[in-house]
Amino acid sequence: MAVYNVRLINEAEGLDETIEVDEDEFVLDVAEAEGINLPFSCRAGTCSTCAGRVIEGDVKESGGNPDMFFNSGQRAAGFRLLCISYPTSDCTILTNQEPNISQF
Ligand code: FES
Repeated sequence: MAVYNVRLINEAEGLDETIEVDEDEFVLDVAEAEGINLPFSCRAGTCSTCAGRVIEGDVKESGGNPDMFFNSGQRAAGFRLLCISYPTSDCTILTNQEPNISQF
């Protein structure tokens, strides 16, 4: 099983941590287990509270309805729902991005 380094950053939150996430684990779940508090609500891919922006590498979403919250430009900018996201490579993710979705 592949394990990836996922770097979570948010300057305003003072966050810059790298966690190891298995290819079949959700980023949000592992962050939480590591004591990193990220925003969430439904944990099922049906809101946008957990939105992050992948700026390097990528993740794959499983389930939920991310296309309801992100248009193609926002997808291209890297917006993903972290509660349903598995890493597919080492990656870097800006966290706490729900307030910024509409800027893209
Ligand atoms: S917490 Fe609702 S989509 Fe992730």
